[in-house]
Amino acid sequence: MKKILIIGATSAIASATGRIWASEGHSFYLVGRNEFRLSAIGDELRKLGAAQVLTHVADLANLNDHDSMITTAFTALGEVDIALVAHGVLGDQKAGEINFSLAFQEININLLSTMSLITNIANHFQQQEYGTIAAISSVAGDRGRKSNYIYGTAKGSLNIFLEGLRHRLHKHNINVLTIKPGLVDTPMTHEFKKGFLWASDSRIASDIARAVRKRKDEIYTPWFWRFVMFAITLLPRSIYKRTSL
Ligand SMILES: NC(=O)c1ccc[n+]([C@@H]2O[C@H](COP(=O)([O-])OP(=O)(O)OC[C@H]3O[C@@H](n4cnc5c(N)ncnc54)[C@H](OP(=O)(O)O)[C@@H]3O)[C@@H](O)[C@H]2O)c1
Repeated sequence: MKKILIIGATSAIASATGRIWASEGHSFYLVGRNEFRLSAIGDELRKLGAAQVLTHVADLANLNDHDSMITTAFTALGEVDIALVAHGVLGDQKAGEINFSLAFQEININLLSTMSLITNIANHFQQQEYGTIAAISSVAGDRGRKSNYIYGTAKGSLNIFLEGLRHRLHKHNINVLTIKPGLVDTPMTHEFKKGFLWASDSRIASDIARAVRKRKDEIYTPWFWRFVMFAITLLPRSIYKRTSL
């Protein structure tokens, strides 16, 4: 039985991953902002077979609360095997281009709060001398695009942070997994028209659960995004800047 901390537990991708893990009988500490939805997800995980589910309501934009929140989670669970960090927002790119304070809020939640939480988790894991940090990034971090480069900046910077952390923690038996989903049908993308490249939250969740089990460093999910992004990153800048990608 594993002890699992999920930050941003009300996210569609995180709750779908939680459902897979609950059916294996693990224990959970769920952190989310919406008390009602958090409690509903907790009930669902219990019904699916979770050994124990504890919940913690928090607005993750408040970085000053992170240290005590993570300490409370580790104390409550005893030890933690897996920490999935999933919260995020897809801001309005155009609005952020005009008003930097909006871009700052998006960077705060997608990058700074994630770095702050993972730093706290990493230090607890280092004391335990084991653990897995699984953080949801995005293919959007692989190359800047005019339609979402504020979001992409946060995710691309997160990728570098996770790479450095993995390098630091490898000798302490701690695995750091960077998860790069492509287009996923969740509340975050409810306004987008869906097409053949889109995946369900449960498809992404099964890839996450498998990658955690296999102690992978990085995944693209679904897998074909590795090739899509490889092709996009190969495009010469002089051509790329003229495209409407
Ligand atoms: N959907 C995609 O196409 C896609 C693609 C690549 C990467 N991702 C990444 O996947 C992760 C999960 O997103 P999702 O697709 O599952 O979307 P989602 O269902 O909208 O989940 C986003 C979660 O972040 C939480 N959140 C946002 N700001 C918060 C704050 N200040 N404090 C606490 N919680 C906060 C939201 O809580 P509330 O419900 O309370 O707002 C929600 O639970 C995100 O990191 C996202 O960037 C998604």
